[in-house]
Order: sequence, then structure tokens, then C-alpha cells
Amino acid sequence: MTQQSSNQSISQRLQTIIDSDRHSRSAVTKDIPLVNYLQLCEQLSGLISDESDRTANLANCTALLWQELGNINWLGFYLLKRNKLVLGPFQGKPACSRIDMGKGVCGTAAQMLKTIIVADVHQFPGHIACDVASRSEIVVPLISEGKLIAVLDIDSPEVDRFDHRDQQGLELIIRTLLTHL
Ligand code: SME
Repeated sequence: MTQQSSNQSISQRLQTIIDSDRHSRSAVTKDIPLVNYLQLCEQLSGLISDESDRTANLANCTALLWQELGNINWLGFYLLKRNKLVLGPFQGKPACSRIDMGKGVCGTAAQMLKTIIVADVHQFPGHIACDVASRSEIVVPLISEGKLIAVLDIDSPEVDRFDHRDQQGLELIIRTLLTHL
């Protein structure tokens, strides 16, 4: 798939999401309306399209999301290495450096190969608290050719900060990122 057709497909998918979501909870109640994820995808593409180094692209992705997403206190990648999740590029306070598969929100999302949204981390059995300020969390797996390579973990100090629009937007961000890892 060319970069242009990939971007077109992201744009079309986002418009479908926006249209289907128009009558549900108003986007203005969120810190970041869904439509901004398209801009973020374009910004990310600009940052990473001429760079093939994985660390550089993951790092710039964290910086961009940290700058643009509202009301978050930690954001970063855990990379799959020898069946453990190992801390990669991140923004926020120092965090635990290794997470076992199946443990915490990150290890659970990694094992299930699915995005997990936790509205209240205090209600998630086995949640690993790296920053006590965290109250809600979203973890998005990075899957390339059917195999897990990492997870993106984002924490917020606000309960119920993330919803399905964040999930769909962040999954598109990850799709963009995966084309340059
Ligand atoms: N809360 C995560 C651990 C990572 S920190 O939030 C940075 C978890 O339960 O997997």
C-alpha cells in the first residue's frame, strides 16, 4: 500500500467514525475531539516517513501524543523482548521497566492482542501502579504480521478519560506508526 492510499484509508475510516458518532456523547466534553486524531496521524506521518529507525520513530510518536492529548500523566511503549514487556520510549515519571505477559493492564492487552480501556484502574485486578496519579488507562497492542511487537500505554489522572473514539483514533495512529517501524 502506498503512503497516499494508506492516508486516504485512514481519512475515510475516521470520517465514518465521526459520522456514526455524531449523535452520541458530544465530542466537546472531551479534551481532544476525535477529528484531531486525523491531524495527529498526518503529523505523525510527517515525523516518521523519512526515518526507518524504530527507536527514533517510537520516541517521536510519544512526544507528539504527549504534546497533543489532553489530561494524561504517562504515555509510552513497552516492547516485547524474550516474552516480557520492556520499557521503551515514554513521557512522564519513571516507570516499572519490565512487565510479565498476562500481568497488569499492559500484559493483559499484550496477551489478548486487544486494546483494553480501564475506566477506573482501582477496579482492575492486578493493575500495576507506576504513577499513583493514574486513575484510568488505555493500552493498544502493536501487531505486525500477526505478531505482537509492543504495546502503547496511556494513563490519565481522570477516571473514565478514554472511550471508543480514543481507541479507534489511537489504533489508527498505531497503524500509521507500524508502516515505519
Ligand atoms: N499500569 C500499567 C503499568 C505501566 S504504568 O502505568 C506506566 C499496567 O497495569 O500494566
